[in-house]
Parts: sequence; structure tokens; C-alpha cells
Amino acid sequence: MIDIDRYAVLGQPIAHSKSPRIHQLFAEQTGECLQYSALEVPAEQFTDVATSFFANGGKGLNCTVPLKELAWAYAECKTERAQLAKAVNTLALQQDGSILGDNTDGIGLVTDLKQNHDIALAGIRILILGAGGASRGIILPLLEEAPVSIVIANRTLAKAQQLASEFVGKGKVSAFGFEDLNGQSFDLIINATSSSLSDQLPPLPENLLAKQGSCYDLAYSNKATVFVRWGIENKALKSLDGLGMLVEQAAEAFTIWRGVRPQTTPIIDLLNAERN
Ligand code: ATR
Repeated sequence: MIDIDRYAVLGQPIAHSKSPRIHQLFAEQTGECLQYSALEVPAEQFTDVATSFFANGGKGLNCTVPLKELAWAYAECKTERAQLAKAVNTLALQQDGSILGDNTDGIGLVTDLKQNHDIALAGIRILILGAGGASRGIILPLLEEAPVSIVIANRTLAKAQQLASEFVGKGKVSAFGFEDLNGQSFDLIINATSSSLSDQLPPLPENLLAKQGSCYDLAYSNKATVFVRWGIENKALKSLDGLGMLVEQAAEAFTIWRGVRPQTTPIIDLLNAERN
């Protein structure tokens, strides 16, 4: 009997996760033989489930809401980007039996922006809306692209200030309240608040988006999110949601696990066609 390498995504809720489909498509495309399932796991069961998964021969896990911080604590060693993100979305069994934690969300965003949408990040001014876990995960990979500056704007200013202070020495990151954004403009505005999910927008002043600037919502949905619509109304060159980032972060995890990089464009095209 052939033992198939097993992977899974853990989270709660998990029923609507696209990850099993994406990884199955990657496996078919690359000829890799693996099984990838979705498991509904509440936070209090995470450690037991992950431990028994690996003890029973599992090779890797993706972790999503609300488990990324727990996965960070669980990983025995971490990449720098995961260390700074304080969140892990990918756990990988290593040759020596230890569990590596990585965070592929930020690099997934950067790849989607640069490779799929031709949005250059070097030398631009970036505004990130929100100062929660989603923002923390993308800051270092964005800084590594050498933007002029990153501004974090948040409803609760103290959280933005705290987050900015964690990246001192890594690049120019500053913190603002939404009311302080008047008169400023940015080449790229990224919505990392959880407000899209409740169809709400933070209060954004007029002229916040520079001419030829673009917008990116980390959230995605079958119809345009409220922030994607805001981008269109404010004449964004491109106003995108996070479907491409989802596929790119998955491709990065697949590469860590299998050592083979899948082609993402056909998968993104397929998922986009399905939701249109
Ligand atoms: P995640 O892990 O998705 O980032 P989180 O850590 O709970 O979730 O952070 C949610 C972020 O969305 C926070 O920055 C939050 O602002 P506060 O820190 O002020 O709470 C932001 N957020 C949520 N709903 C919002 C709304 N309606 N308007 C503006 N910001 C909102």
C-alpha cells in the first residue's frame, strides 16, 4: 500500500475554505501525490489536533482564523517573517522531526501585487488600514520591497503605534489615526481591517489615493467588497481583492512542503471565472 503524504488546513469556521481545492489543483498540475483536507478546529483543541496530526504521519498544516497565533506558539522554529508577524499560517515537518512555522501571507500579497498585477512597490508610499494580525503579517515582506514609507492607520491609534514600533530598524513605518490622514495621499492603499466582512469602511478622506494609485483588499468575496468599490469610486488604477493573495500564499506553502513551485495564474483564472 502506498502511503499518501497528508496535509490539512485547520480553522474555525473552515467549511468554505478554498485551500483544499487550491492544493488539489496544485498537486494535479505538478504531478505531486498528496491528500489535503479541511478540519474544523476550535482554539482550545488546536495543540492536541496538531500534535496528533504530526504524530500520525501528517507532513504539513495550514492554520487560519483563529489559530495563527497558536500555531506561532506551537512551532519549534520560525522564519524571520513569521517571527515578526507573530502569526504562523504554515507548519512543516522537517527532516529532523521538528516543526517549522512560516507565514506566507505577506509574500503572497507581494507576489500578487508585483507579478500578477504589475504594481511596483519600490519607491512608493503605502497606506495600510488596520493594525491587527492581518496587518502585522504583511509589513515585513512589504518593507523588503523598499517602499518610501509605510503608514499604518487604525481606529485605535495606540495599536497602530505599537505595531509600527515593532518594525523599528526594518524600514520607515509610522502610525496615524484615520482623522490624521487629511491632506495625505498614497500610491497603494491596503485594507487590512476586518471591516469589509461586515460591509463597512473606515472613514477615509477625499484625495487619499494618489493619481494612478491602486487599492488592495486583503479580504475577498464573490462580489466586489466595499473597499474594492471605494477604490473604483476613487479612480484607482487597479482595485483588487485578496483572491490572488490567497492562491499565492498557498503556492508558497506548497513550495515549502513539496520543493516544487506550482503555476498560480491558471488557478487564479479558474477561481475568478467560477466566481464571475
Ligand atoms: P485580523 O486578525 O483580521 O487583523 P484583528 O486582529 O481583530 O483581526 O484586527 C481587526 C482590525 O480591523 C483592527 O485594526 C480593527 O481596528 P481596532 O484596532 O480599532 O479595533 C479594525 N477594524 C475592525 N472593524 C473596523 C471598522 N468598522 N472600522 C475601522 N476599523 C475596523
